[in-house]
Amino acid sequence: MADRTDPSAPQALELADIQGAMLRKRPGPYVGSYLLLRVGTPSDGRRLLARLLPHVASAARWWDPPGGAWLGIALSHSGLRALGVRQESLDSFPAEFIAGMAARAARIGDTGESGPEHWDAPLGSPDVHLVVAAFAADRAACDSLVETVREALRDLPAVQLLHRLEAAQLPNGRTHLGFVDNIGKPNIEGTGAPRDDRAGAAGPGHYGDPPGAGPAVKAGEFVLGYPDQDGVLATQPLPDALRRNGTYVAFRKLHVRVAEFRRYLKENASSTAEEELLAAKMVGRWRSGAPLVLAPSQDDPVLAADAARHNDFSYREQDPEGRRCPVGSHIRRMNPRDSPEVSVDVLRHCILRRSTTYGPELPEGQLTDDGAARGIVFLFMGTDIRRQFEFVKRQWANDGNFAGLETEQDPLTGNREGARTFTVPLPARARRRQYEQLPRFVVTKGGEYLFLPGIRALHWIAGLDR
Ligand code: HEM
Repeated sequence: MADRTDPSAPQALELADIQGAMLRKRPGPYVGSYLLLRVGTPSDGRRLLARLLPHVASAARWWDPPGGAWLGIALSHSGLRALGVRQESLDSFPAEFIAGMAARAARIGDTGESGPEHWDAPLGSPDVHLVVAAFAADRAACDSLVETVREALRDLPAVQLLHRLEAAQLPNGRTHLGFVDNIGKPNIEGTGAPRDDRAGAAGPGHYGDPPGAGPAVKAGEFVLGYPDQDGVLATQPLPDALRRNGTYVAFRKLHVRVAEFRRYLKENASSTAEEELLAAKMVGRWRSGAPLVLAPSQDDPVLAADAARHNDFSYREQDPEGRRCPVGSHIRRMNPRDSPEVSVDVLRHCILRRSTTYGPELPEGQLTDDGAARGIVFLFMGTDIRRQFEFVKRQWANDGNFAGLETEQDPLTGNREGARTFTVPLPARARRRQYEQLPRFVVTKGGEYLFLPGIRALHWIAGLDR
């Protein structure tokens, strides 16, 4: 059910009521902990929420969070139930959120090694009720915030801390495969996002549409309570007090096989320069972040570092056939922008990403796996899990048909079930190179569908406004 409104009317967002993690980037550098909690009785769960609420960072105070560190709170459907939310509200959530990520695993390609039966406990179990994220610029500030959470738990025996998952920026500031991340992002109407929110604490005032960010996407695609691209105002979940300024999160723990990736590059290239080009072709950007559309044959670190240019390109105008950035590359699949092969409205399938790395770096040049757990904890956000996250995974990442690539999958994240080829069109017309036998570089270690409520909604769940 939904209301229709004037789609052209921009609306001011209630930034002070929106959790910061939704609209603002994580701090950089960052150290974080995801705390997974089980709530045994509604009363203890609500007491915990009431105690944590003063520490929650809003999108309005992102540059000046309480205590200099960032706290965010999200709940699973079983968590909302455990906190005593009424049945009528519980039933009003979308079916995929109610079912949970583990139940939807086959739809999003979490099969074989990535199947829920292999996930790291307690992810995928009905016991994960609350996920509390504590982030700060350094370990001491993060630990101090985690200690605040532990303190809040001390006389609440019915609430159990099941697991603490640590994340931290790698010393080189990049992700495990050596790529800079957090570059491509939707341009959300009314968010007042700093021009380059990678640049750290830019502070309020550095607003404006980042060059190349594309048309502004209606806020309702990312935050409940505002019109979406079709001018539709969501009317669920119920009541409005719970829904307003909330969103959904696909929380994913993804193990990355770094040695496997390095070996594949080496075995399929004849020089270091060719290895780098193959890595860039798989992603669509050089490891520095420079986009292949603008830097097709060699890396351009100056371009990569220039937020006014590194997103400012058009597939349709500059690379319609994918001879620079392959149609099957990771970024072109994940956000085809104006790519001519795509017939759907891309803005209806945008996702907002927050990624944080976990585990130690594999030493530079090492080609054998050391057995360490390492990867990325992703938060994919949006107001419609099925139309956004699940669509992107199912249609764009794990299927090649939309782009005439038949059974090919995303070269970085594909599960390789029956699809192990990656086609790279070459600059010369009608020529292409096919890479075969791609191994699995990414294995899902767990995940949850969560609801990230607005701050007043957290008060409502805690019973503080009744
Ligand atoms: C471990 C797995 C993954 C790795 C290593 C990875 C890596 C990257 C890199 C290096 C970029 C380019 C830099 C940037 O724009 O931030 C990127 C972009 C992106 N990725 Fe991933 N990614 C992974 C999984 C995923 C998944 C599972 C999704 C979605 C379901 C996704 C969605 C996106 C999107 C939407 C972009 C931006 C595209 C654009 O706007 O141009 N990624 N990723």
